[in-house]
Amino acid sequence: MKNILITGGAGFIGSHVVRLFVKKYPQYRIVNLDLLTYAGNLDNLADVESAPNYHFERCDVCDYERVCELMRRYSIDGIIHLAAESHVDRSIRDPFIFACTNVMGTLSLLQAACQYWNGDWSEKIFYHISTDEVYGALELDKPEGAAPYGSRFFSESNKYEPHSPYSASKAGADHFVRAYHDTYGLPTIITNCSNNYGPYQFPEKLIPLLINNIRNGRPLPVYGRGENVRDWLYVEDHARAIDTVFHRGRVGESYNIGGFNEWKNIDVVKLVIKTTDRLLGNLPGSGEKLIEYVADRAGHDLRYAIDSTKLKTELGWEPSLQFEEGVEKTVRWYLENDVWLNRVTGGEYREYYAKMYGRG
Ligand code: NAD
Ligand code: TYD
Repeated sequence: MKNILITGGAGFIGSHVVRLFVKKYPQYRIVNLDLLTYAGNLDNLADVESAPNYHFERCDVCDYERVCELMRRYSIDGIIHLAAESHVDRSIRDPFIFACTNVMGTLSLLQAACQYWNGDWSEKIFYHISTDEVYGALELDKPEGAAPYGSRFFSESNKYEPHSPYSASKAGADHFVRAYHDTYGLPTIITNCSNNYGPYQFPEKLIPLLINNIRNGRPLPVYGRGENVRDWLYVEDHARAIDTVFHRGRVGESYNIGGFNEWKNIDVVKLVIKTTDRLLGNLPGSGEKLIEYVADRAGHDLRYAIDSTKLKTELGWEPSLQFEEGVEKTVRWYLENDVWLNRVTGGEYREYYAKMYGRG
């Protein structure tokens, strides 16, 4: 029997991790701790909500006393920490909430784990989910032709050089996780993953935003010239990597997770347009008319490219899907789940957003 606390389990990646663990490990008790911000949605977990090994607790990770109480109540022996503010554009508008949730929330959870486990580390694990964005940006020194678009890649030994308030807050959290391992001996693991895409992603992020706007005939905003490069990974492959690392990763280590799948933004936009137009039965090329080049994001990182060789050689994990295949699955999911999409882009959510951030 394992009692696992998954934070941020009602969000995009978290919901895939919760679903995987609840279904694959009926002998585990899975406790989903989530504040249900605009990005957290219990609809994402409708298919597992009545499973006997699943429990939901609405809680702020920053609420240290409550986190301690939940750890005691459920006899938690493993933590997978995903709860975070996760959108770079929001972090530029409102950095404070990113420092609060991502840094202070992680610290609260680390301290609660230390306090509750009290030096008995046997069979315990604190697994922190982080991002490749902590490493900063890479050059685009081979912009023409096929990927890879540069000669350097992020490896686990890369120095941290975050540029956005989001990546700075995730870097701060990673540093605290390492500090708790090195100072108190807390058994920690960190993974740094590239851009995820797939079902249940909030439609403020590039791929679901494009699908939603194409189906509504709205403009498709491309920042700058669309030359920035991201490494994309299908979310279920990430959840599978998290399962692998949680069970077999080495304590004190960090692992990069990536898709070996670099794409320029403009090529992602064109692929999503082509796929969505085809599935909607639109005239080929009609979506391209919606592309609008807009002002670039401040401090926009040029290229992310991750080297996940360590995870492959040590633990045998590899991405399973080609990008075109993953995009097709993703577009189909959003078009078939328009009720979900309409709800998260509808009035209730906007009201919440307005309350949290002072705008609608
Ligand atoms: P998300 O924004 O979709 O979900 C975040 C979840 O955290 C939501 O359910 C939200 O309600 C919850 N949450 C926010 N603040 C909270 C608080 N104070 N207390 C408790 N719960 C809170 O994010 P995501 O895209 O699923 O990302 C999950 C994790 O993976 C994050 O830590 C993120 O940094 C990391 N990550 C994301 C990506 C990506 O491409 N999305 C890539 C690499 C790493
Ligand atoms: P995003 O999905 O926000 O992820 P991240 O910033 O964490 O990489 O953005 C992916 C890329 O797409 C990024 O380079 C910014 C760009 N982008 C656009 O061009 N237009 C948009 O409307 C959005 C949301 C992102």
